[in-house]
Amino acid sequence: MDIRVDISNSGIDNSEIAGCRERAQAELKKLWTGELHFTGWVKDPYEFTDEMIDELQETAEKIRKDSKFFLVLGVGGSFMGAKAVIDLLEPEGDNNTKVIFAGYNFSGRYLHQIMNTIGDSDFSICVISKSGSTTETLSAYGIFKELMIRKYGPEETARRTYVVTEHKSSFLFDQASAEGARIFDLALDIGGRYSVLTPVGLLPVAVAGIDIRKIMEGARSLASEEAFKGEALDYSIVRNLFYEKGKKIEVFEFFDPYCAYFGEWLKQLFGESEGKDGKGLFPASLMFSRDLHSMGQFLQQGTQCFFETFITVDEPGEDVQIPDSAMKPFAGKTIEKINKCAVNGVADAHTKAGIPVVRISVPEMNANVLGQMLYFFETQCAVSALLSGVDPFNQPGVEAYKKEMRSYIEAL
Ligand code: PA5
Repeated sequence: MDIRVDISNSGIDNSEIAGCRERAQAELKKLWTGELHFTGWVKDPYEFTDEMIDELQETAEKIRKDSKFFLVLGVGGSFMGAKAVIDLLEPEGDNNTKVIFAGYNFSGRYLHQIMNTIGDSDFSICVISKSGSTTETLSAYGIFKELMIRKYGPEETARRTYVVTEHKSSFLFDQASAEGARIFDLALDIGGRYSVLTPVGLLPVAVAGIDIRKIMEGARSLASEEAFKGEALDYSIVRNLFYEKGKKIEVFEFFDPYCAYFGEWLKQLFGESEGKDGKGLFPASLMFSRDLHSMGQFLQQGTQCFFETFITVDEPGEDVQIPDSAMKPFAGKTIEKINKCAVNGVADAHTKAGIPVVRISVPEMNANVLGQMLYFFETQCAVSALLSGVDPFNQPGVEAYKKEMRSYIEAL
């Protein structure tokens, strides 16, 4: 595993953590035995065959040939993971197709801007919805489908429409089937926020020119009970111990602006999996060094209701030298070396102030490592929720919002 977890500054005693390991292993086992619902994602990395990856890559190649824009419509787990991966990884080779995400808000201005961006250019649509009926996604689909029909006519529109949904009757599935759009199945036993390593995440990522095979290889390397033996679940354990000791918030902290959507993905994963039955750590995310000049004050001296989880990459991809003519003491040094000083500086300052800090790091960022990270956090999150006694795989609160909003829409 390329992911290192350092809990030496968590302030929690090692013997207390060790005392919880047996229980964490028992919860992990439940993910593998099939006794829980919605655990299809656990075995998915190796059940997702090379042929399935080839099929997605061939589809992505067709889209890149005939479309300048690939408009991905989805909300929550149906877009967050793909956006996180595309922001973090560079495409391999030339890629002139831009992936645009929509259908995750109700902003008319946002949709207008996308229409203006697309203009007369060729584009294809990907509609991603597990349920096949989500308001944000389906209303955006209605708008862009009309636009496409006016531009291409119904037959070419169907050829340019890609759908990822469950293989069962819904508005989206029935319409896409009737019109002959290309449908990729999302397994019935994989929930939205655990679906990034399925066509939900992989199709947009492949269109962006990123090697999805390497992502899946990374995920596959961790997809076993063995990979999470011993101390490998200590992160889930420590989170629960913090909660029991009165912490209410976990702040994910990044030092690279390209991680912003990875933070959003983590917030959804943990927030929607754990926040129920009146329980759960509230997941927040901050971007350093930017937020050290604002929220840094609160962290250092404000209400101590949180712990911090640093997520860092040891070797930066690109670096820039600051000229000798610049101000001392940073003249002649590189930006990324200074970034490391920010990481160490804030870690020291916060540790001295008694703030618990967990450090999660990877040696470098690439498709294989990111595949590991996605699977790693999904597993830690599921085990952590099970340790706290909640069902990680339902989201009755989200369903409640959808239902109430729908009654307002029907009354319009
Ligand atoms: O994790 C989840 O289940 C949710 O966040 C969903 O992904 C989100 O509500 C979108 O639902 P759907 O994919 O059915 O359109």
